[in-house]
Amino acid sequence: MSKPDHIVILTGAGISAESGLGTFRDVGGIWSRYDWRDLATPEGFARDPDFVLDFYNWRREKVRAVKPNPAHLALARLARHWQGPVTLITQNVDNLHEQAGSPEVIHMHGTHLTALCAACGHRWPAPEVMRATDPCPECARPRARPDVVWFGETPYHLNRIGEALTCAGLFVSIGTSGTVYPAAGFAAAARAAGARTLELNLEPSQNATVFDESRHGRASEIVPEWVAEMLNES
Ligand code: APR
Repeated sequence: MSKPDHIVILTGAGISAESGLGTFRDVGGIWSRYDWRDLATPEGFARDPDFVLDFYNWRREKVRAVKPNPAHLALARLARHWQGPVTLITQNVDNLHEQAGSPEVIHMHGTHLTALCAACGHRWPAPEVMRATDPCPECARPRARPDVVWFGETPYHLNRIGEALTCAGLFVSIGTSGTVYPAAGFAAAARAAGARTLELNLEPSQNATVFDESRHGRASEIVPEWVAEMLNES
């Protein structure tokens, strides 16, 4: 593969699986145990905010107990040593890329480490146990919610992502099933703008046909291998 200058990377739950965080659509995944309509929609939150917040409080506690895996660490190394820009976009709301040392992470689905005031839009560090009645530090109204993007809401940073996709030389998708848009359409958009596309995933994703190259395996093995190749270390 010729050396692209600007690498754009999209990650999903699969990159954090080997750190011990469950994925959504694999066998036994989160959406096989919970109904996404209850936990990941504004309507579900309005119906039972404490049930939703208990879920995010539990996920936040889990993330505190786990560590980045070699895949996260390899992407941080690539960002440090690559000859050109590396844009890292994640669908994940955990902070394992940051813990691994990635300098800049675009959280298109938000992050569960931040609380958001549904009344005034103020953001603050999520407390260990968030309650919907927590008063907003800014407007004092009791309208706290997780700063995550639910189904039916608009993902964050789409303009910045769109710009990156138009100037990518290589687009790499890691650990995502390619089922949720707009993220699932990024590979096709990058390809249409002239990028080569690579998928690193445990198994072919729903949009596998859009990739010029696919490598299947565990992220903690195939991502460090790919980064070593890119940095001419292999
Ligand atoms: N290594 C590499 N890939 C893996 C591993 C692993 N160890 N384990 C699982 N995978 C792959 C699976 O094969 C699957 O294709 O990761 C993908 C996980 O897919 P999903 O569970 O659908 O997660 P994701 O694609 O991130 O979901 C997208 O859906 O519910 C919403 O907001 C949520 O951001 C999430 C979005």
